[in-house]
Amino acid sequence: MAGEDPTRPIAPAGTHLRSDDVELASFAKPPPRRNQRRSSKCFVYALALIVILCAASLGFALTVLRVKTPELRLRHVDVRTLSYSTTATTASSSASLNATLVGEAVLRNTNFGRFEFLNGTAVSVIYGGTALGGGKISGGRARAREREKVTVKMEVRSSELAADGRKNLTSDVGSGMVKLTSYAKMRGRVTVVGWIKRWRTAEMNCTMSLDLRGRMVRDLRCN
Ligand SMILES: *[C@@H]1O[C@H](CO)[C@@H](O)[C@H](O)[C@H]1NC(C)=O
Ligand SMILES: *[C@@H]1O[C@H](CO)[C@@H](O)[C@H](O)[C@H]1NC(C)=O
Ligand SMILES: *[C@@H]1O[C@H](CO)[C@@H](O)[C@H](O)[C@H]1NC(C)=O
Ligand SMILES: *[C@@H]1O[C@H](CO)[C@@H](O)[C@H](O)[C@H]1NC(C)=O
Repeated sequence: MAGEDPTRPIAPAGTHLRSDDVELASFAKPPPRRNQRRSSKCFVYALALIVILCAASLGFALTVLRVKTPELRLRHVDVRTLSYSTTATTASSSASLNATLVGEAVLRNTNFGRFEFLNGTAVSVIYGGTALGGGKISGGRARAREREKVTVKMEVRSSELAADGRKNLTSDVGSGMVKLTSYAKMRGRVTVVGWIKRWRTAEMNCTMSLDLRGRMVRDLRCN
């Protein structure tokens, strides 16, 4: 019993040595085939990894890094003040219209980064191709993939209208509906991944009908 015990660890060690020898022998005999197979496997894995990395960075570039132009649309316009008159004489008739409109616009930023717009974006109110005044939008920002409310205050003054347009305004004021267009180009900067900065200009082009008797804005449409 006592003599058998020390032989126990020796016996497996001996077999181990023998199997190692066999392995060594087989390793020494055809080594190039196994090495080649291993290195070609490595090559395939490396290639697959490179393809996956390329696809991932392409996807990243196409979605995150692509800078889109934000959208600016009027959602609602309130008539803050309104005064209008038509004076008819034997020689001519002429209308006068003054109004202050306060609009709520929505700036939709679909970028994976913030859009910061400059102070003083000019808004013009256009009637029959002529600007009848307008206003300014103060500076601000829209966070990444967010909608930001923007206040758009517009003054409408018919005194800026030429004689031709005045004639049209007279009939429009008589009918109680004045069609107006609100137009703005908002310049700002999109920042993605913290350091990529691109200038973009959001355009606002909305038409509306100013209902004089109802003192409200109807049919607001933006494109
Ligand atoms: C509109 O404003 C102008 C100048 O501010 C003024 O002369 C005119 O009388 C006003 N019109 C109306 C209808 O209030
Ligand atoms: C933005 O511009 C207006 C005048 O157009 C000015 O009163 C205001 O102080 C400016 N705001 C900033 C933050 O520069
Ligand atoms: C006046 O109205 C007529 C007919 O609707 C239009 O053809 C013309 O361009 C208008 N003129 C102005 C200055 O708005
Ligand atoms: C605004 O949109 C209308 C079409 O609804 C278009 O005819 C007009 O030219 C646009 N205005 C500007 C300044 O792009």
